[in-house]
Amino acid sequence: MVSRVIPVDPFDLVVFGATGDLARRKILPGLYRRFVAGQIPETSRIIGSARTEMDATGFRAFVAEAIEEFLDVKRRDADSVARFLDHLHYVAVDAKGDGGWPELAALIRRDVVQAYYFSVGPSLFGDLAERLHRHGIATPNSRIVVEKPFGRDLASAKALNATLAEHFDESQIYRIDHYLGKETVQNLMAVRFANILFEPLWNARHVDHVQITVAETVGVGGRGAYYDKSGAMRDMVQNHLMQLLCLIAMEPPYRFDPDAVRDEKLKVIHALLPVEPEDIVRGQYRGGGKKGAAPSYAEDVGEPATKTESYIALKAHIANWRWKGTPFYLRTGKKLRGRASEIAIVFKEVPHSIFGDEEGWRENVLAIRLQPNEGMNLSVMIKEPGPGGMRLTEVPLDMSFAEALGEDGADIPDAYERLIMDVIRGNQTLFMRGDEVEAAWAWTDPIIAAWEARGDRPKGYDPGSSGPEDALMLLHRDGRRWREIRE
Ligand SMILES: NC(=O)c1ccc[n+]([C@@H]2O[C@H](COP(=O)([O-])OP(=O)(O)OC[C@H]3O[C@@H](n4cnc5c(N)ncnc54)[C@H](OP(=O)(O)O)[C@@H]3O)[C@@H](O)[C@H]2O)c1
Repeated sequence: MVSRVIPVDPFDLVVFGATGDLARRKILPGLYRRFVAGQIPETSRIIGSARTEMDATGFRAFVAEAIEEFLDVKRRDADSVARFLDHLHYVAVDAKGDGGWPELAALIRRDVVQAYYFSVGPSLFGDLAERLHRHGIATPNSRIVVEKPFGRDLASAKALNATLAEHFDESQIYRIDHYLGKETVQNLMAVRFANILFEPLWNARHVDHVQITVAETVGVGGRGAYYDKSGAMRDMVQNHLMQLLCLIAMEPPYRFDPDAVRDEKLKVIHALLPVEPEDIVRGQYRGGGKKGAAPSYAEDVGEPATKTESYIALKAHIANWRWKGTPFYLRTGKKLRGRASEIAIVFKEVPHSIFGDEEGWRENVLAIRLQPNEGMNLSVMIKEPGPGGMRLTEVPLDMSFAEALGEDGADIPDAYERLIMDVIRGNQTLFMRGDEVEAAWAWTDPIIAAWEARGDRPKGYDPGSSGPEDALMLLHRDGRRWREIRE
């Protein structure tokens, strides 16, 4: 299957924070990949910007190194890298000062799409937005892309929205959640709304429960100081897991249109009930591990008495007609046994088994894998082959995108690549709207406030495990169990 690459309109894209980690690892190599794919017109330009003084030649060398470091050799060649580098420019600016801005203003063209990627800390978003206006750079058609975290609670998210709204209309603001750019996540919408097969079953009458897992094997690494002020609830649940939950739970939008989709997601967030304290398990990884001494979470963040969670599992309920009675179990954590992200829709048992209560009987599960090996898997019961009588066994109907799409599948664009192209196209469907972000915080804030008021301490868990024992109990006591975390 050959997928079509539709070139975007010519653009000037300014990447603020171009010397930072995200730009080096994702944004700049991703743009190179879209260039090689033929999606970026020859007249487009990418303008790096940060405080570090360098010229275009220095920036090109920097980007060439990033491509070499972060793209494997099969995905790059010297000739196309050289052609890509010709599109790069660099202007040093300080978000908090005025140097460099006139040069940037002189460089930007008015007759192409203009986009500004704020790949800097959120404390600089307001400064950048304000200076883009003060120096006459932004126009009513320009777009800004803002990174997470979008606030740390409802009050700060509202303040950030208000600051951006002083200079940009909501239709110009692209709040990125890279989970929404994943091929599988979009396929979730295709599977739900382009097939008649699942929709009649997609409700509390037929779905026993839903599990959303985002498991990482890494610890907090060099982000310890930032992470300890945030924790898994703020860093992962409020945004990524919440977005996945919305896409599973939302009603069919009347059209695949940015506001129609986001209106439906917002309704889901509003319908989420508060989470009871007994339905939340917070954890913190211990030191140790199989390969000898590894630092504990507290050692990693340098705070012996820290109460921040590196793991969280919770049971959420959606109070609407479709979902009343179907729990959504969410879990995410660091230093777990595998790097695996998956959504599992676990269907109910058949109302009556004509085969008797066979051992090996399992419910149907639709598992949607976000990583690794993006794809979907529907487990169904069949008769065990052979003459052994009518014994049942479970088989997977497996669709790995890499296999299903052949050579093309291995070349699925990374989430950032897809999302940046959507910004240039002016398509906000896969970006969070301001009211969605605020609603997500409005649900999250009281949960965090309640555990802080109780002085709750996270439970310890071993690195390489599936998380704290109590998280197993969260499902056991409902007569269910977590799916295995498998890479
Ligand atoms: N890294 C990731 O994987 C990741 C993932 C998700 C979200 N994010 C978000 O993406 C944003 C960038 O993250 P990052 O990891 O790339 O951060 P980073 O490595 O610390 O880079 C920050 C960038 O901002 C520039 N900068 C700092 N102060 C500036 C100022 N006053 N004026 C202009 N430029 C300034 C820095 O360059 P100079 O020092 O040269 O100015 C650098 O290029 C953050 O909001 C982060 O939360 C990052």
